[in-house]
Amino acid sequence: MSNPSLLILAGDGIGPEVMAEVTKIIGWFGARRGVTFDVSEDLVGGCAYDKHGTPLHDDTMARAQEVDAVLLGAVGGPKYDSLDFSVKPERGLLRLRKEMDLFANLRPAQCFDALADFSSLKREVVAGLDIMIVRELTSGIYFGEPRGIFTEGNERVGINTQRYTESEIDRVARAAFELARKRGNKVCSMEKANVMESGILWREVVQRVHDTDYPDVELSHMYADAGAMQLCRWPKQFDVIVTDNLFGDLLSDAAAMLTGSLGMLPSASLGAPMANGRPKALYEPVHGSAPDIAGQGKANPIACILSFAMALRYSFDMGEDATRVEKAVEKVLADGVRTADLLGEEGAVPVSTAQMGDAVVAALDASL
Ligand code: NAI
Ligand code: MG
Repeated sequence: MSNPSLLILAGDGIGPEVMAEVTKIIGWFGARRGVTFDVSEDLVGGCAYDKHGTPLHDDTMARAQEVDAVLLGAVGGPKYDSLDFSVKPERGLLRLRKEMDLFANLRPAQCFDALADFSSLKREVVAGLDIMIVRELTSGIYFGEPRGIFTEGNERVGINTQRYTESEIDRVARAAFELARKRGNKVCSMEKANVMESGILWREVVQRVHDTDYPDVELSHMYADAGAMQLCRWPKQFDVIVTDNLFGDLLSDAAAMLTGSLGMLPSASLGAPMANGRPKALYEPVHGSAPDIAGQGKANPIACILSFAMALRYSFDMGEDATRVEKAVEKVLADGVRTADLLGEEGAVPVSTAQMGDAVVAALDASL
């Protein structure tokens, strides 16, 4: 069998800095676990614009379609703010998501015990939290037609349309059930079936997919507003939450903040299975290019490292190794190693991006 392939698009700002630490971990897997990844690197975002006049070159796009997984750092920065919309760094990312048809966006909210006091919620509410929000990413109200601002009589009307086909709901529901089987075996589906027809269809299709193909997974349904309340009240009741694009946008941001710093949050976007059975996949930290700290060695690489762990689990069937990476991060945090974003108290000394990466590698060594 050929080696698993990875395309690394480090991007702009702190992207290359945090990705350098992931590269150390990829190297560790080759040296210590005998797992060699075929890694290719390319440009995305502002750096691609600087070289090619486009934030994503066609060759890069083609390569992204071929590899088992794409790992992205971050794109953008003040230098590119004045660029025309069509060549803005973010367009590179959007093109990847669109052309790879990445319809399931996975956003874990995981609270490491050592950081539980960082949350705005009480320690007992968040300590040990480990939930996953699956947001439908390529349809729904952000894409539905008709849309626009029209004139009706003597005033204007702004219109967006929530629209879901059965097959769009079906495929994201399947993604959620598959994930649940690799986790806590529980899915809660959220919509507003009480006031929206698209929600009625959503609930019906999710239930049907469950009854037909995933009867072993525990399924519940919740109205999204009640879900938001439950997420703040007792988030540990959930395992996998599946929801539409709009509700998922809000719920995943809210859930993420239960756990503390932006520098800790990974994500994955998955599409349809490829010929080899692996889903099309893009892994990236939730944070952006952080121009305010770029080039200073201050960035927290953990979000990017945990994104790689998600790649191990969801693209490469290396769940145990994914857990190994997560446990290494947990150990490093428990040992008190902190980048600047994870430091509350005055006088504490932060480690650099590279020191954090080295600490994770050392913890991986210790895990063998
Ligand atoms: P940001 O996520 O880059 O930064 C927000 C704040 O969090 C900053 O104070 C930053 O220093 C801090 N921060 C972010 N990641 C961190 C890390 N790993 N370690 C320590 N601190 C971290 O969001 P912002 O400032 O709104 O956007 C900056 C640029 O990034 C913009 O050009 C924006 O368009 C782009 N962006 C790109 C994204 C992507 O590539 N997926 C997502 C969000 C923003
Ligand atoms: Mg959002």
